[in-house]
Amino acid sequence: LEEGPSRPNEPISGDRIRASQRQFTVKKPIPMLCFAAMKGVILAAGKGSRLYPITHHIAKPLLPLANRPTLHYAIDRLKEMGISEVCVVVGENEPQMREALNDGSALGVAISYVRQTDPHGLAHAVGFAKDFVGEDSFCLYLGDAIYSESLAPFAEKFKSSGCANLNLVKWVEDPSRFGVANLEGERIVKLVEKPKEPESNYAMAGMYIFGPQIWSVLPTLQPSARGEYEITDAIQMMIDQGEQVVAGVYKGEWFDTGTLNSFLDTSGHLIDGKSIVADNAHVTAAVGHSVVIGDGAHVSCDSIEDSVVLPGAHVSVRGHVRHSILAGRVESSESIEDQIRWNDSTQ
Ligand code: G1P
Repeated sequence: LEEGPSRPNEPISGDRIRASQRQFTVKKPIPMLCFAAMKGVILAAGKGSRLYPITHHIAKPLLPLANRPTLHYAIDRLKEMGISEVCVVVGENEPQMREALNDGSALGVAISYVRQTDPHGLAHAVGFAKDFVGEDSFCLYLGDAIYSESLAPFAEKFKSSGCANLNLVKWVEDPSRFGVANLEGERIVKLVEKPKEPESNYAMAGMYIFGPQIWSVLPTLQPSARGEYEITDAIQMMIDQGEQVVAGVYKGEWFDTGTLNSFLDTSGHLIDGKSIVADNAHVTAAVGHSVVIGDGAHVSCDSIEDSVVLPGAHVSVRGHVRHSILAGRVESSESIEDQIRWNDSTQ
């Protein structure tokens, strides 16, 4: 584990001609005869830099959404899939993460932790969970993803199909900022990470289920143009090797919590556009739509809407607060809009 899972300088074995360019035989699926345990791996090592300065102080996976840590939603979705053992891949946030989630017993799962030494992409992060997963299948879940619907049907589909890998995909208007999947029926035949000219509208939607076949491709993976070990490239290699790779088309809502806009969208969705003010918060303000004010927070302003005030924050603003995430001691003689703010700092 200390040395990391991938060997960046090794050449890729075999050719990597894209599936669409060559004939290949798809390996026969092996339906599972019994319902073997599936494990969960949550990737939560990122620094959350797009939510600075708040994520300098609170690990992104622990930021409260509707007053619950973001990662609790991931654990709920994994539990619905019948998963009871979860490995959280952490980074510099390890101490905070361990303290907050502990051994998972309070959440009804067994949590263990591995540390990704340096951030080199999703496929790199997954490698650290190899010992935890062993020979089992596992659900890989991006820690900042929030889904409105249960993912349990996809776990069932993975098990009954006997495929090597199932990936959640979602039809989106502009897929160019995602991994993009070309489908033939249920099969994924080609994957491209953030293509300039997408060939399909199916975006890779942040949840992947793998059998053990993934472990044989990871060591031969090369970094992408953006210098990361891409999970999409690892999956493409499995396709090239003739493994059964299928799509699980997800029709519910899918949010990621990585930016001010997406964090507030997610929060607003979870509270259905209403507002939640913790019982022990002190609020002197007209509270409008989509507001969450956390435990022990003090808020004084003319009005507040579409915002999240973290637990324990002291907010004193002359004017209104709109579309912002506030934490620490925030004092302002003018209105606050579109800010992520910790004390006086916005970066
Ligand atoms: C990652 C994956 C991408 C996927 C996306 C989903 O992108 O590389 O294939 O569509 O997550 O959120 P990243 O967020 O690392 O840019």
